[in-house]
Amino acid sequence: MFTLPKLNYEFSALEPTIDAKTMEIHYSKHHQAYIDKLNAALETHPELQSLSVEELLSDLNKLPSDIKGAVTNHGGGHYNHTLFWSILSPAPQAQPTGLLNEAIEKAFGSFTDFKTQFETTTAGQFGSGWGWLVKDGEEVKIVTTPNQNTPLSDGLTPLLGVDVWEHAYYLNYQNRRPDYLKAIWNVIDWKQVEARFN
Ligand SMILES: [Fe+2]
Repeated sequence: MFTLPKLNYEFSALEPTIDAKTMEIHYSKHHQAYIDKLNAALETHPELQSLSVEELLSDLNKLPSDIKGAVTNHGGGHYNHTLFWSILSPAPQAQPTGLLNEAIEKAFGSFTDFKTQFETTTAGQFGSGWGWLVKDGEEVKIVTTPNQNTPLSDGLTPLLGVDVWEHAYYLNYQNRRPDYLKAIWNVIDWKQVEARFN
């Protein structure tokens, strides 16, 4: 049985970047719904219930065809949101350091150039989905995924993920996804992103 991960901050802690109401609904309703539906899907497959969500998602083609869709959507939803909460902080480390910083400079030129490219690419994701910084071998790159698909299923290691479903920003930013993406850096904790890289 999967359960909601504990949040390390209050719903209001990320204001004004993410408002308390959005956090509360996003975590208590949206994320909980993915978990409930993932658990319900696994009820018909007890042999899979001991696997972690990472194990379930790492090779979708190994899954029984009758729950492949449910695990992709709801398992992905659980994994992606768990990662998202873990890299947000009201008192974040504002920039990458060390090996991750070196990899970002090698791939994008500078941290500033990385942020601009991430914002542009992620704003351009058509419909609901996610923007990602991923580790691919020793390199880092930006990718997007539709819906709750996760780079983990493509053999990539997600380092940073930003939710661009409207439920993540609409109360505060309405249709202004680029403004949300510009602001999100205020609450991204690079200490957590670095820990995933290392
Ligand atoms: Fe979400």
